[in-house]
Amino acid sequence: TADGPLKGRHVLVTAGPTWEPIDPVRYIANRSSGKQGFAIAAAAARAGARVTLVAGPVHLETPPGVDRVDVESALQMADAVKRALPADIAVMVAAVADWRTADVAKEKLKKRGSAPPALVLTENPDILATVAARPDRPPLLIGFAAETQDVVKHAKEKRKRKGADWIIANDVSGDVMGGDANAVHIVRGDDVISLPEMPKEDVARILVERFTDALV
Ligand code: C5P
Repeated sequence: TADGPLKGRHVLVTAGPTWEPIDPVRYIANRSSGKQGFAIAAAAARAGARVTLVAGPVHLETPPGVDRVDVESALQMADAVKRALPADIAVMVAAVADWRTADVAKEKLKKRGSAPPALVLTENPDILATVAARPDRPPLLIGFAAETQDVVKHAKEKRKRKGADWIIANDVSGDVMGGDANAVHIVRGDDVISLPEMPKEDVARILVERFTDALV
């Protein structure tokens, strides 16, 4: 690991989407590219941390000095996160699917017959909330909130509901998902810091500086 202010610290980052299988060839996914999470993992490694990056399926290179664990589904991500703990800082950037199919078909679903199949969904575990409730909860636990309206208001509620220390809120009504720039609000209770739009690498560097300052 590099020398820096996070030397000797373990930072856990989740990033990317999850894929929820329907049958052996189909899945439900979302538009997360993983770029913001990968940039945070890279910035933490540059700051000297040992970094575990639990990544959903994305087309991105592993940043230098980062230990990457690849997963597909939310259940696999939850399991990988549990195994990566303890951590000094956990940053849950992944766009975890809220729902998975209640039953994964063992064989490929067939088109023959008249009615299309009905997908029955069931709720995935909330990884962030689960980590918040664990005895080995990281001392600094950060969530993300992608919203298309009332971004800060929803982020404040989400922070309380999930038991995170901070929520990084971003407005994804534009082309943030998959894009190279992001404008975020750092919601730490009633105190909110809003950053202007900038490249995701710069957002990552500033966030990691803030995380470092918050560690005791
Ligand atoms: O509820 P929502 O999906 O908007 O919350 C976003 C935050 O919660 C992100 O930090 C995301 O990584 C995390 N999350 C999670 N597990 C889920 C859903 C969201 O860790 N099942």
